[in-house]
Amino acid sequence: MLKLGVCQMRPEFGIKEENVTKAIELISSVDAELVVLPELFNTGYQFISMDEVKELSEPIPGGYTCKMMMELSKKRNLYIVFGMAEECEDRYFNSAVIIGPDGYIGVYRKSHLFLDEKDFFTPGDTGFKVFELPVGRIGIMICFDWWFTESARVLSLMGADIICHPANLVLTQCQMAMITRSLENAVYTVTANRTGREQRGDKRALTYTGKSQVVDPEGNLLIRMGEDEESVSVVEIDVSKARDKMITHKNHRFQDRRPDLYSIITEA
Ligand code: ACM
Repeated sequence: MLKLGVCQMRPEFGIKEENVTKAIELISSVDAELVVLPELFNTGYQFISMDEVKELSEPIPGGYTCKMMMELSKKRNLYIVFGMAEECEDRYFNSAVIIGPDGYIGVYRKSHLFLDEKDFFTPGDTGFKVFELPVGRIGIMICFDWWFTESARVLSLMGADIICHPANLVLTQCQMAMITRSLENAVYTVTANRTGREQRGDKRALTYTGKSQVVDPEGNLLIRMGEDEESVSVVEIDVSKARDKMITHKNHRFQDRRPDLYSIITEA
């Protein structure tokens, strides 16, 4: 059994040290082996200029946020997935980092950028990745990736047991849709959302929907947090349940697919 934690919090825009400190305090109080945090948990979401993006982004894994989170991982013997803005050779990505007790493991760069993110970030170039770890096979997607069913499907076909899903959701349908993503792929999904409201410059206010959740491979909600709470919820899961892809004794989720009928999906 694996103790899986989902951290929901309300970052304040631009104050990285306070946001990182808050996350560390929240996580330090729980007994978990893998914890997932929201998208852009250290900076906040609503950037209004490229200067802000440049100022707040960090190299991965060489920057302040990774260093602090890696110290926590080591101290608590814990795997952590968290979202942050990445700077890499004058390009900026909305990324998620995975680290463990032995340090940095990898990065995923958001594939499907939402709304004004397109003004600031480069679309992800890592593709989807699955990390084979002692806690299971971990796939990562970020927030709006949920809208594209292919994201979770590809991660599942790559062997993910648990899809970690850092989010800053403003649309209300994701939590419902992720139940289906879990069910159709027989995977655990962990949507770690933020809460609160941001209104910066002359931009439209954004209200984040909270309700972070964990769904099991049969589509059961194991955790559903409140809209506004800031805390870490933990549930024990049996990762092996994500390795049984049968639907009925004659139907297999992946082997029964008919890719010969789906080629339009991969046409540009
Ligand atoms: C989103 O992708 N942060 C809505």
